[in-house]
Amino acid sequence: PLEVICRNVAAGTMAKRLGIEEGEKLPRSIVEFCLKRDDLGDPLIAEEHIYAFGWASQAELDEMIAMTLRINDYLQGMFAGIGIKLIDFKLEFGRLEHPDGLGGHMSVLADEISPDSCRLWDRETDKKLDKDRFRRDLGEVTEAYTEVATRLGILKANPSSANISV
Ligand code: CDP
Repeated sequence: PLEVICRNVAAGTMAKRLGIEEGEKLPRSIVEFCLKRDDLGDPLIAEEHIYAFGWASQAELDEMIAMTLRINDYLQGMFAGIGIKLIDFKLEFGRLEHPDGLGGHMSVLADEISPDSCRLWDRETDKKLDKDRFRRDLGEVTEAYTEVATRLGILKANPSSANISV
């Protein structure tokens, strides 16, 4: 399967790779592709690799990009409404034989949206409210995830009930 990353603000591997300061807004949303191969560390790939090795057709890739950008628009708006900036996120796509039986394939989105696979920063303070708190040993991991869930209205603003739910 392919991993698609959508970025609105430079962070993580992209900021490092291109020498961009973390937190810099990108000129526009950027969609990147990685090969889902744990043993290789999910390497970044070019569209050329995808076509040459037959991992997806141009139509499938166009559909993946369109879906990813639509999800990005939706999520950016949703998070903006609760004071959170969507820095980037990751989606995984697999492929199935097309049900029309003509031998083609269709791309299938198979993933979840959570602070494990998104970067979410507080709009006012840029405080990280995502898995980077764990990855970078910043502490307050549970508090940050609880904060996102509370702002979304998924959890009540009561720390003791939050602890039971996670
Ligand atoms: O997270 P890291 O800095 O290693 O890589 P990245 O390419 O900057 O990650 C971009 C986005 O994809 C972040 O929101 C990550 O949380 C997410 N990601 C993921 O969920 N799973 C991966 N295997 C790689 C990235």
